[in-house]
Amino acid sequence: MANIRVLSDDVHYTEEHILAKVQYETAHCKRTGDTIQVTPRRRWLEVRTARRPQRTGVMLVGWGGNNGTTLTAALLANRAGLRWETKEGERRADWLGSLTQCATLRVGSDDDGKDVWAPMSGVVPLLHPDDLEVDGWDVSSLDLAAAARRNRVLDVEVQRALAPQLRELRPRAAAFDCSFVAANQQERADNVLPGTRAQQVQRLREDIRDFKKAKSLERVVVLWTANTERFAEVRPGLNDTADNLLASIERNETEVSSSTLYAVAAILEGCTYINGSPQNTLVPGCLELAERHGTHVVGDDLKTGQTKLKSVLVDFLVSAGIKPTSIVSYNHLGNNDGKNLSAPHTFRSKEITKRNVVDDMVDSNPILYAPGEHPDHVVVIKYVPYVGDSKRAMDEYTGELMFGGRQTFVVHNTCEDSLLAAPLLLDLVVLAEFCTRVGFRPAGDDEYVPFHSVLALLSYLVKAPMVPRGTVVNSLFRQRACIENVLRACVGLGPESNMQLEHKLA
Ligand code: NAI
Repeated sequence: MANIRVLSDDVHYTEEHILAKVQYETAHCKRTGDTIQVTPRRRWLEVRTARRPQRTGVMLVGWGGNNGTTLTAALLANRAGLRWETKEGERRADWLGSLTQCATLRVGSDDDGKDVWAPMSGVVPLLHPDDLEVDGWDVSSLDLAAAARRNRVLDVEVQRALAPQLRELRPRAAAFDCSFVAANQQERADNVLPGTRAQQVQRLREDIRDFKKAKSLERVVVLWTANTERFAEVRPGLNDTADNLLASIERNETEVSSSTLYAVAAILEGCTYINGSPQNTLVPGCLELAERHGTHVVGDDLKTGQTKLKSVLVDFLVSAGIKPTSIVSYNHLGNNDGKNLSAPHTFRSKEITKRNVVDDMVDSNPILYAPGEHPDHVVVIKYVPYVGDSKRAMDEYTGELMFGGRQTFVVHNTCEDSLLAAPLLLDLVVLAEFCTRVGFRPAGDDEYVPFHSVLALLSYLVKAPMVPRGTVVNSLFRQRACIENVLRACVGLGPESNMQLEHKLA
């Protein structure tokens, strides 16, 4: 598909940058009694985007897991243009499920009034997956070919075709504290770093430098796709500030989780850190450290199937004036993630991120909900080994209609969890790299300001988005519109208004 080139006095394409000027509009609201006074605010913003994606590598924490092996195989298979036989006929490698590779956005309309669409990478240059290097850590020493066989996600033909390359890939030794995950994970832990927490951070930093040097990389993204940990305690003196967290690591405090050690190592090496699981890795001290080092962090927990659908359905219901009163989600799965989540303390982390996703939508409509009122919202996860990576999600939504009527939806979803997650991991890396190349400044200012350390732009891809300030947005449509409109701003196009008055007026 074609790249777009914007013709406007407000956009300049130089060898290195795209320089764009856009009007940014907000509305300031003030409540007085029953009235909301709204003051529109408009200002010119200049957006500068470096055109060349950096040579980038991703280091996966949990490389040998279902998501890690699936992403790695997808990178290799797509790079090689792999084709293989299935009982339905020939299949070739693709990136179905990836926002950056397989979705389009509407750019405008042509002479006939027809919509014109482009891929995201056609608007601004994005990192190409074929150029992404991969490395990582795992507590299990299995090479990636053996790990893929154990994980039972990939078609056997794909495993065979990629085995020679996958066999060469061996996870680095991991920082691991079994007290943060289910006890049943200990049995695979034969590849664990010795030493204190400070020594482990040191070693993880050396690993990052080693990878960067070996592959001549300009940027490394560290992405946690390892097991869900329990929440760590957050308390003054332990991890509430950057200095306290660093001191706690030096003292080898047992309440500093392994995931926080990876995050600290990544931040100290200037890498973006993404938390693909629900636990509170990014404790306040970690966030302060990222701000201090000017690096980006993204959290928490990948948003793949059930939660994505929930953030669409509840948004639809509440914005349609229907009142969801009960949301019940059952899951069962039989992969190692499910095995780990069978312990109450790790399940609790997952339950928290899964349950918070409707809060902002409920709060958005005081006509439906009185202050403090919420739908009943229950989440159940069960481990059923037989179904392997093929996760089953069953949801029941009940809502109130007029005259006391009730509406109930029952949704059943079956799919390989890791085939949904791997494209998302790619999107996280591609968009995180893009975010390091963009700067904004009010027209006339000298300095371009980068995105805040806490990268809320990637909320679309995570269940419990972390935001630097303001309110969390869980609505999938608003999250996607945010990405689209930021990309549009990079090339001087205003936000997509969807008014299309050119077709609607008499
Ligand atoms: P998995 O259990 O197959 O893989 C996790 C890997 O992490 C394992 O190979 C394990 O040995 C390794 N590991 C555990 N602790 C480690 C540590 N401290 N350092 C390095 N490696 C470590 O799980 P899967 O299915 O790949 O999921 C990974 C994570 O992503 C889980 O936390 C899961 O909850 C989360 N997630 C997955 C989704 C999906 O659709 N697959 C959706 C949302 C979140």
